[in-house]
Amino acid sequence: MSEWIDVNSVANLPPGSVSLIDVNDIEVAVFNIGGQFYAIEDICTHDGGTLAEGEVQGFEIECPRHGARFDLRSGRVTAPPACEDISTFQVRILDNRVQVHAADDNH
Ligand code: FES
Repeated sequence: MSEWIDVNSVANLPPGSVSLIDVNDIEVAVFNIGGQFYAIEDICTHDGGTLAEGEVQGFEIECPRHGARFDLRSGRVTAPPACEDISTFQVRILDNRVQVHAADDNH
């Protein structure tokens, strides 16, 4: 399946910001890090924390609940207590709109 879901305009998602979007009943957080866009499932694999509310440092997001960290580019865990990676989604820009692919990169 090749389905792209509209998230926001590029202008409304400036560097340092995040947008949330429902992708087939999965909450997805789309981050603008220095002009590059990265999309992850917005659920920490440790205990369900909302990652979009966490602090971004470089390309990493820190879960606001217990401090697990994930690489936004790959979804990989970089610090405990989480031990499972998070799902990532492809992002594209089309006509100045940010879009995410409906299938996560793990499928
Ligand atoms: S829920 Fe994210 S570190 Fe515990």
